[in-house]
Amino acid sequence: MKVLLIGSGGREHALAKLIKRSLLEPRLFIAMDYRNPGLEREAIERNGMAYIVNLIDPMAIAKVVEEVSPDLIIIGPEEPQFHGVVDALREKGFTVFGASRRCAEIEKSKVYARTLMWRHSIDGRLYFKAFRSIEEAKKFIEFAGDIVIKPARQAGGKGVKVLKDAQAYLAKDRLEVKKNYVEKLFAEMDSYKDIDYKILVEQRVEGVEYTAMVVTDGETVLPLPLVQDHPHAFEFDIGPETGGMGSIQGPGWLLPFVTFDEYRKTFEIISNVLKVLQTEVREPYVGAFAGQMMLTGFWGPTVIEFYSRFGDPELSNIIPVVESDFLEILDRAANRRLSSVKLMIDESIVTIVKAIAPAGYPDNRKLASGHPVYIDEARIREIGCETLYASVERRADGKLYTKGSRAIEIVCKGDSYEEVYKKSELAVNFVYSLDGHPLFYRRDIGSEELLSNRMRIAEKVRTVYRSRVANGLLGKMLVWIPGEGVFDNPLISFVR
Ligand SMILES: Nc1ncnc2c1ncn2[C@@H]1O[C@H](COP(=O)(O)OP(=O)(O)O)[C@@H](O)[C@H]1O
Ligand SMILES: [Mg+2]
Repeated sequence: MKVLLIGSGGREHALAKLIKRSLLEPRLFIAMDYRNPGLEREAIERNGMAYIVNLIDPMAIAKVVEEVSPDLIIIGPEEPQFHGVVDALREKGFTVFGASRRCAEIEKSKVYARTLMWRHSIDGRLYFKAFRSIEEAKKFIEFAGDIVIKPARQAGGKGVKVLKDAQAYLAKDRLEVKKNYVEKLFAEMDSYKDIDYKILVEQRVEGVEYTAMVVTDGETVLPLPLVQDHPHAFEFDIGPETGGMGSIQGPGWLLPFVTFDEYRKTFEIISNVLKVLQTEVREPYVGAFAGQMMLTGFWGPTVIEFYSRFGDPELSNIIPVVESDFLEILDRAANRRLSSVKLMIDESIVTIVKAIAPAGYPDNRKLASGHPVYIDEARIREIGCETLYASVERRADGKLYTKGSRAIEIVCKGDSYEEVYKKSELAVNFVYSLDGHPLFYRRDIGSEELLSNRMRIAEKVRTVYRSRVANGLLGKMLVWIPGEGVFDNPLISFVR
């Protein structure tokens, strides 16, 4: 079977590893926009080839596709979906695992995602307001208080600012920060011509985050085990937001801080969203889909955003866990024959993924780019871990150079977090910078300390949302206006 994988990063390397062990004996072809050494190697080992091509250009990709003539095309990242690559290839009669442009709107536009949830009263929705004009936005945030400011378009894990409004004496300065940030975001969003609203302001919530991924053919929704990503750059969840510095999974389908009921509720939300999305866009959703969730006191399982693809690095955790033939599952989804398929996993193990990034990431990608690195994969393998190549390229001199984002992901597995944590801490030592430019990773991911901290927070928000359930207040924001009374209608109203 000829498989063409589209995408260049760590998630695609994870996909390649999952696919290549299939009994369908795939020949693996890859279309990527830089020479990822990991992907290149997987293609060669699997009797295929790697092509360098602009991944947001449907015409350029169609040319590669016609040359390869694959039985199945698998789309890794979101941007090709946003640019209509899936639609263009399906139109030519190819079988594609990936979301169409209209389905992928749920990731591309955070405003659409939120609006869809409100229109159909889907649980886990947050109050928000979207803005086209900078003046309107600045005026609004003067009284908005405890909020999060986001670019209205998915911008690759950049641009979200969480502004906790706690100390009254800082209110004035904070307002200044908010206004400056609104200005900055508007300027950045100006370059995207494919959106209507530029920013959104939403209610801030607190809790523990996790990702719930599924594979779907439009009817059957097949959940993957829950994974927790760590978006902050530095230890103990401080520093700027990144595309994800690492992730943990297990044991089994849950995480130590998510109960079975919360897991069920999460996938109920995801199934409902997929249903209403398909009704609205009048197209089947075929591909990977995920909810980036937060367990909050406001709702219990709450939606932060959606992905029209697998999470990165979240998919990496799945590599050691999946026992089923993953390629067969993707192929069945793409052919709309997913019903009766079961995903078998090894429920006894846990996995930890750690990303290693060059200093400078995420705020100064230029500084983080162009540094030679060496990875002692053999030693990492000896420890029992796997290496995934992400934002790193092989240049003409044969050496590997950083490209400014997370360069390497190390995937470790074992029987307990304690054991896997030790392995991952050992393994990260075998990634070297060759020019002295510092590399960094998060030591705390998978640690006992961070895990118990998460469990403590989860227990706290659980108490709150359960009492909200008991009082009929789940997901409700009441506003008290002195002299006028208590209103169900929030300050932040949503667009219809
Ligand atoms: N409403 C919110 N309340 C609190 N924190 C939030 C909220 N929305 C986003 N965040 C935080 O900001 C991060 C990034 O936001 P997200 O919407 O996922 O954007 P991105 O596209 O950058 O991933 C989240 O992982 C979460 O930690
Ligand atoms: Mg996110």
